[in-house]
Amino acid sequence: MKGIILAGGAGSRLFPLTLVASKQLQPVYDKPMVYYPLTTLIEGGIREICLISTPQDLPRFRQLLGDGTQWGLVIEYREQPKPEGIAQAFLIAESFIGADPVTLILGDNVFYGGDSFQRAFAEFKSGATIFGYHVNDPERYGVVEFDAHGQAISIEEKPRQPKSNYAVPGLYIFDNQVLEITRNLKPSARGELEITDVNVEYLRRGQLRVHRLSRGFAWLDAGTSSSLHEASAYVQTIEKRQGIKIGCPEEAAFHRGFLTLAALEALAQRMPRCEYRDYLLNEVVAEARRLSA
Ligand code: TTP
Repeated sequence: MKGIILAGGAGSRLFPLTLVASKQLQPVYDKPMVYYPLTTLIEGGIREICLISTPQDLPRFRQLLGDGTQWGLVIEYREQPKPEGIAQAFLIAESFIGADPVTLILGDNVFYGGDSFQRAFAEFKSGATIFGYHVNDPERYGVVEFDAHGQAISIEEKPRQPKSNYAVPGLYIFDNQVLEITRNLKPSARGELEITDVNVEYLRRGQLRVHRLSRGFAWLDAGTSSSLHEASAYVQTIEKRQGIKIGCPEEAAFHRGFLTLAALEALAQRMPRCEYRDYLLNEVVAEARRLSA
């Protein structure tokens, strides 16, 4: 399974924050936003990742994430010159995807809790798997309607009159048909290749699975000043209360077996003295030593 992080876009709702740094580089409490979706992919066992962003912002992402070897990953980069739709990511990353299935995650989506994604990755064989999450403002998203048996029967992009409260979060798992489907898409009225149209085509083919995410699961979308602030407050609350970190790629890479304990420790030792380093050394490394003693 390959992974794509889509981290372009205009970020106009966060102006003037986004004048000098893209939305996905803004802090969500104690880390850059892109660390959260990156960690979600790592937790899902995905090691080969392609990050797509704008020509202006790509150098910053390279500086932040490098080639991924520090986390046992391979990270490639591609440009999206203009925000011409989420589904355009598949065309931009075609040579990266090759003949494999692919998971696309949006660079401004923060997920926390449960193992729904890990289970979906482990169970995935073919077709498409997406998720449904109960929200109070579904009209801002792709909205999925279910029949009495829990089967998805329609998906609509930003409908004026939503048929349900289930929005589709920004994590999509597709088999390789996604390339052929996207090549045949026409841009929508707003001039974008719509991810909803990809999902609708899988639905038409009878190959779309929609998992409903449980109530305890958190999906935060950090696209406005308020939601960015709320995401930071949420992360801070959980981290302080539980003494853990959300969105820590080093920890996830270690737990997934992409990094040895020695490599994790060496990586943390090279960090400047800070709370992030203390967490890795005094919690993650120390806990692993305790367990193996
Ligand atoms: P949006 O939040 O819909 O758009 P945006 O990030 O450009 O923000 P704004 O509406 O405030 O101008 O995009 C959702 C995510 O998808 C976000 O992480 C950016 C990314 N994206 C791209 O990278 N390229 C695209 O063509 C589109 C449409 C979105």
